[in-house]
Amino acid sequence: MDTVATPVIRLAGVRDLDRIMALETEAFPRGWSATSWTQEIRDHYVAIVDEGVGVIAMSEVAGTAELLRVIVSSGARGHGLGRALVSHGLEWASCFKATEVFLEVSHTNQIAIRLYESLGFTLLDRRVSYYGPGDDALVYRRVIPSADPVIPSTDPVILTQSGSPAPDVQTNFTTATQTVEGFPAPGVHNPITKERS
Ligand SMILES: CC(C)(COP(=O)(O)OP(=O)(O)OC[C@H]1O[C@@H](n2cnc3c(N)ncnc32)[C@H](O)[C@@H]1OP(=O)(O)O)[C@@H](O)C(=O)NCCC(=O)NCCS
Repeated sequence: MDTVATPVIRLAGVRDLDRIMALETEAFPRGWSATSWTQEIRDHYVAIVDEGVGVIAMSEVAGTAELLRVIVSSGARGHGLGRALVSHGLEWASCFKATEVFLEVSHTNQIAIRLYESLGFTLLDRRVSYYGPGDDALVYRRVIPSADPVIPSTDPVILTQSGSPAPDVQTNFTTATQTVEGFPAPGVHNPITKERS
């Protein structure tokens, strides 16, 4: 697989909504609305790579994280950005002491399934026709042992709000979630939304 220059991943804000919606509508024409994404940005963790070429949404409640969405623009796929985003999401979850990460994916989405399995997600359950007749949801789980921190495979650069490199990942996540427009850190009062693709 070709790889591009080191991906730059940063926390998303509502100012990124147009770029995120462009990704969403391209990947999922009947997917999440702008209102749903605004809620994700405010209540959960949303990060973008390379100023909107891709996006990931994660949530965390009481040590259990969920990968809610990952999208890379169709023209940028196959260059490692999806892997960088999911690795980043796992690292984010481990920084909040999450011990496991769940996700749901359509059984027809073989590319995403390959990506998730290659990053250690294992199949937990199959919900028959969950997305509609003949479209099953696969539930995957990734354990995060506390003694085995997640190391991003593509070493993404993570920026603080000022645009300078974060001194360390933990500080960046804490700083970012506490300072962006006064929104709370994830997991404080944020029920996991179950709106799926
Ligand atoms: C799933 C998605 C995010 C992957 O992004 P990406 O940037 O293309 O992924 P990467 O280049 O990092 O590839 C990661 C892995 O995905 C799999 N993959 C990527 N492209 C693939 C292809 N064309 N065929 C088969 N597997 C593929 C491979 O396992 C790959 O690892 P490898 O290159 O070491 O074999 C992207 O395809 C996407 O946005 N799809 C639409 C939205 C979606 O379905 N999201 C998931 C559900 S929310």
